[in-house]
Amino acid sequence: MAELASTSSPSFDLIAEGALGDAVDSAVLAPSLHNSQPWSFRLHPAVRPRRLDVLVDRSRHLRAIDPTGRALVQSVGAALFNARVSLAAAGWATSTCRLPDAGDPDLMAVVQLEDGPPDSDLAALNEVVGLRHTNRRSFAPGAPGVGEVAGLLAAARAEDAQLVPVLGDEQHRLLARLTQVADGRQHQDPAYRAELRRWTNRPAAAGDGIVPAAVPHVDGTAREDLPVRDFDTRGDGALPPSTGDGAEGTLVLLTTVRDDEEAWLRSGEALQRVLLEVTRAGWVASPLTQALEDAQTRQELRSALTWDRWPQSVLRIGRAPLTPGTPRRPRPEVVAEDPPA
Ligand SMILES: Cc1cc2nc3c(=O)[nH]c(=O)nc-3n(C[C@H](O)[C@H](O)[C@H](O)COP(=O)(O)O)c2cc1C
Repeated sequence: MAELASTSSPSFDLIAEGALGDAVDSAVLAPSLHNSQPWSFRLHPAVRPRRLDVLVDRSRHLRAIDPTGRALVQSVGAALFNARVSLAAAGWATSTCRLPDAGDPDLMAVVQLEDGPPDSDLAALNEVVGLRHTNRRSFAPGAPGVGEVAGLLAAARAEDAQLVPVLGDEQHRLLARLTQVADGRQHQDPAYRAELRRWTNRPAAAGDGIVPAAVPHVDGTAREDLPVRDFDTRGDGALPPSTGDGAEGTLVLLTTVRDDEEAWLRSGEALQRVLLEVTRAGWVASPLTQALEDAQTRQELRSALTWDRWPQSVLRIGRAPLTPGTPRRPRPEVVAEDPPA
C-alpha cells in the first residue's frame, strides 16, 4: 500500500491490524498433514516495520508419519503462502524473510509490510483460498490441457519449486507400486496407526483433524492401484469407496533442489500456489504422499523420476464434484503473544 507501511499514524496502525488479522484467517485455511494445523502467528501492526510472524507449533508435529518434520514445515509454508495472498489482496506490498533467526528455530518466516504496489498475481488467488479443499473422490476422465499444465509449472517455479508430470504407464505403475509399498509399511507400524486414529477422532471442539465428510468410505470393495490414504478409521467415511486409479486425471510430483528446512517451507508455499491455481482453473486435487513418507520409497521415486531434485509432494489433479471444507481452529487459538522482552 503506497507509503502506508512506513508512515506512523494510529489510523494506519488500525488498517494494518485489520489486514494482518485477515491474513491469519486466510493462513489457517491452508492444507496441512492430517489437518494438524501446526502453526501460530504474532501480529505487529503498530511497530516499524509492521509485520506478521509465522511460527511452527511443534506440539502438533506428527512424529510417526513425519519423523524429520518435513511435512510439518511444509504445512506451515502453505499457511505462509495464504497470508502473502491475503495481504496482496488487501493492497499491501510485502517482503518475506524465511528462517530469519537461528536463535528462534520456531520462527519460520516474517512477512513485512512494505511501501509500494502489491503483487497482483498473488492478489488474484485470494478469491479461491476458501474454495480449495482436498478432494479424495474418483476423478472424471480428462486431464488439464497443455496451457493449464504450463500455468501450474509456472506457479511452482515462482516459489522455487518444479512440477514434474508423471507420464505414461510405466511411471504411473512405478508410483502406484511405491505408494502401495509405503502404505503397507505404514499400516504395519502401531505408532502410525495410533497417530492416524488420534487425528481422525478429534472432538468437534478441537477444530482440527480429518472428518468423515472428507474421506472415502472403506468397505473392502475398492481395489485401487494408487491407494488414497485410508482415513476411514471409524467406518463412517461419507465419500464413495472408489477413488479411481489416478489415470483419469493428471499426476504430478512437486520437487525442490535442496532438502532442508528452507526448501520444505518453500515447497509448502509452492504446493499452495499450485493448489490455488488448480482451484482457479476449476479443477480439484489431492495430495497422495505415502511414498514420500518412507525414506526408501522416496529415494526410489527420486532415482527413477526426479533425479537431482527431491520429491516433496505427489498431487492427483482432475475433475470431480466438490467436497466440503474441513474444520479449522479460529484466530484466537492461533495468535500467540510476543515473548517477554
Ligand atoms: C504435507 C501434506 C501431506 C498430505 N498428504 C495427504 C495424503 O497423503 N492423502 C490425503 O488424502 N491428503 C493428504 N493431505 C491433505 C490433508 O489431509 C488436508 O490438507 C487436510 O485434511 C485439510 O483439509 P483440506 O485440504 O480440505 O483443507 C496432505 C496435506 C499436506 C499439507
